[in-house]
Amino acid sequence: MKKVVLTGVKPTGQPHIGNYLGAMKPALAMAEDPEVQSFLFLADYHSLTHVHDPKKLKEWTLQLTAAWLACGLNPQKTVIYRQSDIPEIFELLWVLSCFTPKGFMNRAHAYKAKVQENQEKGIKDLDKGVNMGLYSYPILMTADILLFSANEVPVGEDQIQHVEFARDIAQKVNHVYGEVFTLPQIVIKKNTKVIPGLDGRKMSKSYNNYIPLFEEPKKLRKLIMKIKTNSLPPEAPKDPEDSILFTLFREFASQEEVQEMEEKYRKGIGWGEAKERLFEVMERELGPKRELYKNYMDNPSLIIKTLEEGAEKARVKASSFMKRIRKKIGITLT
Ligand code: ADP
Ligand code: TRP
Repeated sequence: MKKVVLTGVKPTGQPHIGNYLGAMKPALAMAEDPEVQSFLFLADYHSLTHVHDPKKLKEWTLQLTAAWLACGLNPQKTVIYRQSDIPEIFELLWVLSCFTPKGFMNRAHAYKAKVQENQEKGIKDLDKGVNMGLYSYPILMTADILLFSANEVPVGEDQIQHVEFARDIAQKVNHVYGEVFTLPQIVIKKNTKVIPGLDGRKMSKSYNNYIPLFEEPKKLRKLIMKIKTNSLPPEAPKDPEDSILFTLFREFASQEEVQEMEEKYRKGIGWGEAKERLFEVMERELGPKRELYKNYMDNPSLIIKTLEEGAEKARVKASSFMKRIRKKIGITLT
């Protein structure tokens, strides 16, 4: 049996270079492993905990799916679907809720962070701004994972606690009914490097320092020109390890190009030239993907069809698994 590797991505904005290098590229490489059956889904109902603009939710879902496809996700190998297309996830959510101690959720990071924020702002109602979706977010994530008997869940550090919850909740159910659920292993994404944004902080939507993955060449060039540098003159030797430009260059250039550039830094390179070279290697890798992306975005029916086909495949597994659960817990009468 192939190892099941499952991960979810939340449509919460336009994909950026940090998402591409930190999440998409490593996941796509992993999906190539012939020993792996990979599942990738758009966690659209997770986004609903804070995205309450219907136009945006729709747009981001299409954009994110198109981005994965344009970057090389092969729907014949990886099952790609929307969470919202799998009703069994929400049925399982309820079942799992009935086994989740409330105290678990009080300890959840996202909830605790919100409470702390309220505390710091001197707001009396510590639960202000917390909806039940946010509160029980980890149980929905547990349902996403357990329904597909995932063996491995590659996630970033911020999601470790959620997968731990999934393991704990699975054990609680297994304790009552026998081995129903597979315990998922947490796989911390190997690629833990943090891609810097225009200002040198972690590239993130929340800092507004990001380079959109499919920015048009002209704008891409402009954004690269905005990347923060120091005020050393062109002829001064520069430390490549201390340069946002070099960190990004390394991600897009070949080994020889990186070596060559390193030497140039040490001898002295003007920031203008370093930026121009970065633009060239980025455009070389991203240009063809941008064309594919545009083609998908101009033909949303292609995206929707791929998602529907993926959902159909995912539901075969989901519905037979849910049938088993219903039997185990005494909901099936026949
Ligand atoms: P953002 O911080 O822009 O909101 P998300 O939290 O939506 O990004 O991140 C989605 C995925 O992309 C996560 O797996 C995360 O680890 C990865 N990611 C986001 N920003 C970066 C970055 N600057 N460097 C590396 N990986 C990143
Ligand atoms: N919570 C994850 C995030 O914010 C997204 C997600 C939802 C997920 N369900 C999942 C990730 C199941 C892995 C497995 O990034």
